[in-house]
Amino acid sequence: MSIDFSLDSYTDAEPLVTTMLTGEDENEGSLRPRYLREYIGQEKAKGNLEVFIEAAKMRGEPLDHVLLYGPPGLGKTTLSGIIANEMGVNVRITSGPAIEKPGDLAALLTNLNENDILFVDEIHRLNRSVEEILYPAMEDFVIDIMIGKGPSANSVRLDLPKFTLIGATTRAGSLSAPLRDRFGVNLRLELYNTEELTQIVTRSAGILDVPIEVDGAIEIARRSRGTPRIANRMLRRVRDFAQVTAGGVITREVADRALEALEVDYMGLDHVDRRMLRAIIEQYGGGPVGLETLAATINEEAVTLEDVYEPYLLQSGFLIRTPRGRCVTQKAYEHLNIAFYGQQTME
Ligand code: ADE
Repeated sequence: MSIDFSLDSYTDAEPLVTTMLTGEDENEGSLRPRYLREYIGQEKAKGNLEVFIEAAKMRGEPLDHVLLYGPPGLGKTTLSGIIANEMGVNVRITSGPAIEKPGDLAALLTNLNENDILFVDEIHRLNRSVEEILYPAMEDFVIDIMIGKGPSANSVRLDLPKFTLIGATTRAGSLSAPLRDRFGVNLRLELYNTEELTQIVTRSAGILDVPIEVDGAIEIARRSRGTPRIANRMLRRVRDFAQVTAGGVITREVADRALEALEVDYMGLDHVDRRMLRAIIEQYGGGPVGLETLAATINEEAVTLEDVYEPYLLQSGFLIRTPRGRCVTQKAYEHLNIAFYGQQTME
């Protein structure tokens, strides 16, 4: 079994709360669970996967193509590695933007072994010409490639090994219908609750050999916005504070001090979250305001707000979506210490 991490489209983004993979997260590898039994949370997805994997193994067939969707940082890449380990096959990891031409995809597919997995992160960013090659590959395990150019060009059909495509996306709605329909298994990943994140932080601390008190783990879990990638990143930063200022042990006080210094508040909100809520209150009377307008107001990209910031703000009840735009809740006023006189503009 081998896992080939050839993700080359990620760039360094350093804020603590980003859910993009950063340079540091590359050694997230050591923290990744390798089998379903080690994977904490996502009970629904895990339960379904267990059945599908077992059935495919009994039939000696590759697993049906799987679409994983949900906010970033929840373990889609990790799950693809786990599926490969459970199936006893190799996984090749790439991303939508990294596959630029049909030839790139053809090279990936023809190099797979029977039953292998191709993991395509950000699959909604595949370009059209690549996507079209993928349809017959997914359906019939063949690709049609053009040999030559101009009038003498010829289409040649190549047989592929049977394989499983695992596509990951933060936005299932951005996938074209023909692509979406070709996935037999659709799994939605949800934000983790504090209890699950506490278990993840405790497990990671064990692997990193960092002493941590239960309250320290809970504090990190509570402030990591439902996202294991953020929890593990916070754990590393808090470990630095613990080493330098507290004899190496992560207690609640150390976690609190470290996260305060990193400008993550006691609800896990960072400065972008707070700017977003504050802008809705101060400039749009609490909302509703359209996403694009809001993004322009605070100088962020709309997709970043939607994919990275909104899921947690919605889940934790600071923000709601209405047909006319985003509105903050009374809880947001209270959190930011702004007087609330009732919402004037909401329905
Ligand atoms: N590390 C990151 N995600 C995890 C998960 N779901 N379970 C265990 N460890 C993890």
